[in-house]
Amino acid sequence: MTFLELNGLRKHYHSVRAVSEVSLSAERGEFISLLGPSGCGKTTTLQMIAGFVEPSSGSIWLDGQPLTTVKPQNRGLGVVFQSYALFPHMTVAENVGFGLDMRKIREPERGRRVRDVLELVQLEQHRDRLPAQLSGGQQQRVALARALVIAPPLLLLDEPLSNLDAKLRAEMQLELRRIQRSFGTTTVMVTHDQDEAMALSDRIAVMDSGRIVQLGRPQDVYERPATAFVASFLGSTNLICGQLRLSAAGMQLVVSDRVALPCPDSTGRAGETAWFSIRPEKIRLVGDGSGETGHLKGKIVMRVFCGDRWIYELDTDVGRLVLRVQNQGHPADEGRTAGLTWNLGDMISVEGGHA
Ligand SMILES: Nc1ncnc2c1ncn2[C@@H]1O[C@H](COP(=O)(O)OP(=O)(O)OP(=O)(O)O)[C@@H](O)[C@H]1O
Ligand SMILES: [Mg+2]
Repeated sequence: MTFLELNGLRKHYHSVRAVSEVSLSAERGEFISLLGPSGCGKTTTLQMIAGFVEPSSGSIWLDGQPLTTVKPQNRGLGVVFQSYALFPHMTVAENVGFGLDMRKIREPERGRRVRDVLELVQLEQHRDRLPAQLSGGQQQRVALARALVIAPPLLLLDEPLSNLDAKLRAEMQLELRRIQRSFGTTTVMVTHDQDEAMALSDRIAVMDSGRIVQLGRPQDVYERPATAFVASFLGSTNLICGQLRLSAAGMQLVVSDRVALPCPDSTGRAGETAWFSIRPEKIRLVGDGSGETGHLKGKIVMRVFCGDRWIYELDTDVGRLVLRVQNQGHPADEGRTAGLTWNLGDMISVEGGHA
């Protein structure tokens, strides 16, 4: 059953269309991420749900009740802003307890809830410090604790982990997911970090220019991006453009006079221009380019070591391609020629090539 519903939300500031049209339904307990580049309208959408920005048109519903005209303080939502404004004159524990005081939750429950949530974000030992005495990441965790402590029906997070270092960020992602699952709190999180969106979300709404361009489970959006923009934004990818041609061997993508690649049959009609996305990890290196050459031959122009994997860049007849290969101890050398191959099913037909 739909718990949160956004219905044709729009926000214009004079001539600026911050949000052009956003419609979305979330189930109770779902974790949804709004993912997209800077300026695409993520914060504005979240602020409309929180009640701090009034929509130019459209409506918001929570648990069957209209929310659009309810004042922000009466919506009872847990909100962590992009710039998490903590009360500077209050200690960590007082900041976290504030929302409970507003709800007239008294001791001993107040103390217990503050303690529990501070333990959750690993800040119990700093409970008596002021925000100015904390690092940016610690302040961010206080902001998260402050939102969680009231056990809100809906949690709204705007880049909640952006100030954490990589390791703490990965830990907090798992922690946030664990907390969210155990509380069952319906959550909408804004992020421009695709890994974070994939790690945390039940569904991702990819946004571009004030609209949701694709909505789905992380693995579906990643494996089946609808557009070149989504393919490039959610992970990295290789985009190949050509004209479809039906040959005796099946459908082909004619990229140039010299290159025709086999491609999946169901992608379009002969004569049409088509775009395909192939993820870097779906391409394999085969042979040395002289014998077995796979679909294409290429020259390794750069390789980058990333610990668990190598990234290769190859110059090919269809342009520069990027490969991601698991590190198994025998990297291919720069300057070498190699064959490239992939499964036909990993060539994903996408709309629009201007990624
Ligand atoms: N109060 C405002 N007045 C005028 N324009 C605004 C206002 N708030 C936002 N905008 C514009 O609306 C667009 C969307 O802004 P928004 O803050 O929602 O982006 P965002 O997706 O959250 O970006 P970021 O990832 O950088 O935080 C931007 O072009 C922004 O400049
Ligand atoms: Mg923002």
